[in-house]
Amino acid sequence: MQMDIITIFPEFFAGIFRQGVVGRAIAGGRVGLEVHDLRCFAHDRHRTVDDRPFGGGEGMVLKPEPLAEAVESLGTPAKGDRAHERVVLLSAQGQRFTQGVARELAQISRLVLVCGRYEGVDERVSELLCDRELSIGDYVLSGGELAAAVVVDCVARLLPGVLGNEASSEYESFGPADPGSPPPPGAPPRATHGAGGLLDYPHYTRPAEFRGLRVPEVLTQGDHATIRRWRREEALRKTLRNRPDLLADADLSRDDRAYLRGLGWPRGESEVR
Ligand SMILES: C[S@@+](CC[C@H](N)C(=O)[O-])C[C@H]1O[C@@H](n2cnc3c(N)ncnc32)[C@H](O)[C@@H]1O
Repeated sequence: MQMDIITIFPEFFAGIFRQGVVGRAIAGGRVGLEVHDLRCFAHDRHRTVDDRPFGGGEGMVLKPEPLAEAVESLGTPAKGDRAHERVVLLSAQGQRFTQGVARELAQISRLVLVCGRYEGVDERVSELLCDRELSIGDYVLSGGELAAAVVVDCVARLLPGVLGNEASSEYESFGPADPGSPPPPGAPPRATHGAGGLLDYPHYTRPAEFRGLRVPEVLTQGDHATIRRWRREEALRKTLRNRPDLLADADLSRDDRAYLRGLGWPRGESEVR
């Protein structure tokens, strides 16, 4: 998959994708990542890419012409003619970027990410050039670069061969609900195949005791059916405590519901420990 980032701060990305699984995917050519300096598409000697807002008000706005030229220089089809490409504007006003959106974007062959700055981007950029606007959360960043980095990381790790264990992204928080299909060979025992819309369960490694806290005994006894059930219950408990909103769409069995009711669901979430 090819990813392109358009930004006025290309140096922001200099080191960020050198490490870890995504760094290796880029170095190994599984993911092509190119960062484009928006100022290269300015036409005056000051390399101006922003201007004052029509209608008055504070701050500056990124001009449409350099952004249009930058996007068009990549040779992606025009908006409306794109089958395997997407141009995305990072924006606090965008739709929420979720694991589901990341899974969708991981299916395409080219993703162009446009980073805003200042008060934002001339609205015509979104209308004429972008397929969608994405927000990484309900807060305002000073620029789209951090958001673009989040999207690149999240999408890249879903691409085939990027994670060591092909299946491991399915087992995480927000993993797809798919309890019907069997886990792939060699996969560790899990509560269900896929987190089923729950948060992940707690993980432990050695030492068995750390500062007075012991690893839950069930994990050391080798009974995989009991471990599976324990993990499922811990995932339910954690989801109820930290993100009860997810339970409405989670893939819950009758046992899951009974367990949650024992914890006070659907009321009393805040008391769960
Ligand atoms: C200071 S912000 C502009 C905020 C804008 N005036 C608003 O209130 O929505 C500058 C740029 O940061 C990026 N940005 C800020 N918050 C973001 C978020 N939550 N998700 C994605 N991008 C964001 C966008 O590219 C935006 O154009």
